[in-house]
Amino acid sequence: MGVEKNIAVINGDGIGPEVTEQSIKVLNAIAHQFGHKFHYTHCLMGADAIDKTGNPLPDETIEICLNSDAILFGAIGHPKYDNDPNAKVRPEQGLLKLRKSLQLYANIRPVSTYAALQHLSPLKPKQLDGVDCVIYRELTGGIYFGNKTISEDGNKASDDCVYSREEIERIAHLAFKAAQQRRKKLTLVDKANVLETSRLWRKVVQQMASQYPEVTVDFLFVDNAAMQLILNPKQFDVILTENMFGDILSDEASVITGSLGMLPSASVGNGGALFEPIHGSYPQAAGKDIANPLGSILSAAMLLDHFGLGKEAEKVRQGVQWTLENGFVTKDIDPVNFYFTSTIGELISDFVQDKFPTELHPENIQLRKSTII
Ligand code: IPM
Ligand code: MG
Repeated sequence: MGVEKNIAVINGDGIGPEVTEQSIKVLNAIAHQFGHKFHYTHCLMGADAIDKTGNPLPDETIEICLNSDAILFGAIGHPKYDNDPNAKVRPEQGLLKLRKSLQLYANIRPVSTYAALQHLSPLKPKQLDGVDCVIYRELTGGIYFGNKTISEDGNKASDDCVYSREEIERIAHLAFKAAQQRRKKLTLVDKANVLETSRLWRKVVQQMASQYPEVTVDFLFVDNAAMQLILNPKQFDVILTENMFGDILSDEASVITGSLGMLPSASVGNGGALFEPIHGSYPQAAGKDIANPLGSILSAAMLLDHFGLGKEAEKVRQGVQWTLENGFVTKDIDPVNFYFTSTIGELISDFVQDKFPTELHPENIQLRKSTII
């Protein structure tokens, strides 16, 4: 039976629009192949929204997102704000407010490796084989959302880090459940030797562990965890951590894959769900059709999983795998023989509609191949 779903689309900034366009192509191909109906409503957020409305998150966007079954989001950020500490409005405020408004309290970032990309990873192949972990990052609390102050003379500032038991428990339950479905190991990353909030995290997670007897729980200080992720990433299964540590560790973990452009994420909470690649807006590449759309397309696969469409999600992942194995890759992966963003989107759309290999005309793909070599 086909399903019918409403998807809010936020292209956002930089390469956001062009990578999101590829995901929509792939979702449309899935809808066509499996008999589903996806309706898209585009809305504004980030620098794009500031330019058009003066507001990084217009009310209309919140409204559309609240009335959708899922949100597909591209990227956020513009260099003109990055080096201006005095800017009153910033694109990122839009994303933070959206997370808070929709109570998207858990950010899920799977880290997997691909044989075809091993040579690009800063790690050695023997450290990479079998790396398969997922980061559960708390997303609506902690230092990101605590009280902020700046003194009148502008020379003293503070950001409070606050967590409640309830905020910890709700994401910890999701992380424990994920561990149950995986290799049954959960690592809480904190700084309990220094921070009171971290000691609360540790206490709450220790108390919850008895509800999940088959899951082995261990604890790492964040500085050590940062080191272990590079030394021996295979040891991790589910990593659970607070907002700020999760932000930092998930970028660190992403380069293990070989390209920052590959990693998807899902932000979930009380009903709503937002799917976005973890890469930033990469303004230098915007509009050039060279960005890697796989992080976005794999986020679309997570969106399909969220709709309960596991078979469809798997098909998209197979399509991604297929392009990688056949050398259909963007410039970040092969700077000499690369294909355009839009070509990768088309290839995966064809793949999910079983147009391969009989209808594949390599010479047509070659024609669209970059000649900038
Ligand atoms: C992320 C980003 C955001 C964050 C920024 C854009 C506010 O780095 O999603 O990881 O810090 O959460
Ligand atoms: Mg980040």
